[in-house]
Order: sequence, then structure tokens, then C-alpha cells
Amino acid sequence: MGSDLPDEGERLLSLIVESVEHPNAQGVAAAVGRLISSGDLAEGQRLPTVRAIARGLAVSPTTISDAWQILGRGRTIDTRGRQGTFVGSHEGIRRRQRFWQIYPSDLDTGLDLSEGVPDPALLPSLGPILARFGDQPFTGSYLDDPVLAPLRELLEGRWPFPPEAMTVVNGALDALDRICATSLRVGDRVVVEDPGFPPLFDLLEAHGIEPLGVPMDDEGIRPESLEDAVNRRVQAVFLQPRSHNPTGVDMSARRRDELASILADTGILVVEDDHSGDLSIGDPVSLGEKLPDTTVRIQSFSKSHGPDLRLAAVGGARQPIAELVTRRRLGSSWTSRLLQQLLLEMLRDDTVTTGVIRAGETYRHRRGLVTAVLDRNGIGYTGYTGLNLWVEVDDERSALVSLAAQGIGVAPGSPFQLNGNGPAAPPHIRVTTGVLTRDHERIAGHIVRAARPVPSRTAV
Ligand SMILES: Cc1ncc(COP(=O)(O)O)c(C=O)c1O
Repeated sequence: MGSDLPDEGERLLSLIVESVEHPNAQGVAAAVGRLISSGDLAEGQRLPTVRAIARGLAVSPTTISDAWQILGRGRTIDTRGRQGTFVGSHEGIRRRQRFWQIYPSDLDTGLDLSEGVPDPALLPSLGPILARFGDQPFTGSYLDDPVLAPLRELLEGRWPFPPEAMTVVNGALDALDRICATSLRVGDRVVVEDPGFPPLFDLLEAHGIEPLGVPMDDEGIRPESLEDAVNRRVQAVFLQPRSHNPTGVDMSARRRDELASILADTGILVVEDDHSGDLSIGDPVSLGEKLPDTTVRIQSFSKSHGPDLRLAAVGGARQPIAELVTRRRLGSSWTSRLLQQLLLEMLRDDTVTTGVIRAGETYRHRRGLVTAVLDRNGIGYTGYTGLNLWVEVDDERSALVSLAAQGIGVAPGSPFQLNGNGPAAPPHIRVTTGVLTRDHERIAGHIVRAARPVPSRTAV
């Protein structure tokens, strides 16, 4: 007022308009991205309106909205309805990530069944394996094959289909991250299971990739829904073929055939996350058996052999794996050969192998002790396998609070539900029964009461 200094909005507007080299959605997104990286636009700063920028650049407001969509998918910017659009902040991103919503940090619990982790007591002991290592350093050359030759041979021999290529990375999430970075682009659309794995939803959004949730039944994702998604031009399909987290479903061979016939000749990349690997009791059914040129399967060794090994094998279609390996040459290049040797020794060891099979049976047994009580009380749940139990509840928040009052922490279902919950996808909680070593009846009783609380009128 009365000042000849342009106000802050005007200044930002000229800054943005002057930085745009190509006045299309990609160009505007790139320019704003550069201004954020350079610090010219600060975290939390409000951006000029879509109309003002469109006018300044003499383009249609749709171009700016498209640019905002590109930046919004990676959470570079944050659109808050009528308040406007802001430069994304680290805190805001963290608060909105589904991953951070799983753990009941605001509820004080003694028994934590929220984490989906294996029972440390059921992991193989490393002592006898490490004792076999000599004092020979694992040097090798930067140019060596990233995978130890005997490990490659062993993995190829046990893969559910003949893989055209194979590599080893630092866990299943690392594999998913690298595949997103090398085989997909900002703005791509991909199919995911709904419910599915919250860190995968976060990861896709961080890459600017749009996840399309497809519902599941007790044989895997529903074929008719996959067909609809394929008609919406998707670039990839992400599946968990066994011990699905959170539902505990294994894909059936019949479902594999139905899905394969929908995907055949589409060129759509299939990414299978076999996150429970050798712990799974179900057969290693894979779309790669039908679509070997377009399927990449990831097998993690975290839950079977130990999360801290950070090891997963990636095998299947040549091109996506070659792109991953080539890009990785610019960074870490390979996964420690020391850890690869450790995995190789474990996979060759009968005691470890028998122990992993027994652990899988123990997890199934623990889950079964809880589901028997749910069955007797008519409480809905899905699946038959894995570390987790996906339990239908009347109300998510009151179920969490009711269990917390008994000192039991479980995960809320909503972060796993991409399209939210409602009549078609009722509220759930996820209970990691895999770490439940005793008191199954008592704890299952609390789950029953939390899932369907007795109305207070009749509670007396
Ligand atoms: C479906 C799914 N994928 C990936 C992972 C992570 O696997 P990793 O430890 O190999 O990164 C998990 C872990 O819980 C998972 O449930």
C-alpha cells in the first residue's frame, strides 16, 4: 500500500514466469522444481494461483493444473483446497505418508502386533554360518558381475520360471524403488492391489506414478477389475503373489491364468513382490510362467532369513533388469558380496532350510489359533497364510483404542486401503499374529470384542 515494491505474490509470479523455458505442463513443472531445488521457492511457501500463472505465461489454466498434478504426485508441492498450493515440506510429506500411519505411536501398548515383522526367535542363527567364513577379504573388481556366480546359478535353478536376467539388490523395497526409477516415468499409471502395501503406495507417489487400486478376492486381484484398469492404459501391474500383506491371500493357479490372458500382448510390465519368499507355504505361482518377457519377480529374504540382511533377488524379463543394473552402475553398483556369500551358505544349509520351513508352519499355526476364535464368533477376516491377519471391524479407531486399552497395539487398516474404506471395503485392522507366542485365546478374545463391540445398552 503506497509502496512501489511489488508484493510477494507478484515477485513469485515473475520469478516463475521468467524461469519457464517451455510453456507446457512438463516445462512449468520442471521450472518450479528447479526453483524449489535452488531454494528460490522455500518449503511451505504459497504459490501464485493457477490463473495468475496461466495469464503470466499466456497459456491455458489446464496447462498449469497439469503441471501442479505432476509436482503434486511427487509431493513436491501440496495442494490444500481453498487455502491454495504450497511448496511441499519434509514434515508435511512425512505426516501424509501412509507408512507413518501404520504404527500406533499415540497409543501406549505393551504387546506390539502392528509391525508385520518376523519373530526374531524364528530367524536362522548366523553363528555357525559365519564361522565358515575365512579371513579372505571379499575385494573383487568394480567391474565384476554384481551377483556371485554360484548364487546366481542357485537362484536361477529355484526360480518359478526360467529368468532371462537375474540380479541381487538390498531388499524388496529397494527392488521396487529401482524398478520405478528405471522402468516407469512421472505421470505413468500402474495397478496395485487394494488393500495393499502402504510403503509401495508412498513409493509410487514419491516417483510421481499414479497407483490405481484393484480389489481382491481370495484368489488374488479380480480379473474384471484388472481388465478395466488395462483399458485405462496402465504401464505396470504390481502384485504380491503369495502371503499377501495385509490379506494373507495366495494367488491361485487359475487366477494366474486369467490375469495372464488379460495381460498377454499388452506389453504391460508385471512386478511380483514375493516378500515372504521361502516362508510362504503356498506354491510359487507366477505370471512369469505365462508372460516371461514382461514379468519381473522379486524374492525377498528379509522375512525368511532376516530383515537386516537387506537382500532380495530380482529375476525375469531381460530389459527392465538390464536397465536397473545399468543405472545402478552409477551408484552402489552391487550388493555386498559378503552378504551374498552369507545368503548362499544359508540357502545351501539343510539346517537353515528346515528351520525356515518350520518357521512358515509356526506362523500358520499361530495365525490359526487366532482365526479359530474369530470363526467361533463370526468375525470376518481374509486369507490363510502369512505373518498378518486382516480383520474386519465395525470402526477402525474404536477397535484400535479398545485393543490399546488392553495393552495391545495393532495397525489401522486405512493406510492399506488405497481407495479408503466404505460399504464396498469395510474398515479393518491388521494384526501381526506371527509374533504372538502365547495367550492366543485371550488376545483373540480382545480382538473379537474390539472388532464388534457390544452396544452399551446391552453391555450390562
Ligand atoms: C509386501 C511387502 N513388500 C516388501 C516388504 C519389504 O521387504 P524388504 O525387507 O525385502 O525390503 C514387505 C515387508 O513387510 C512387505 O510386506
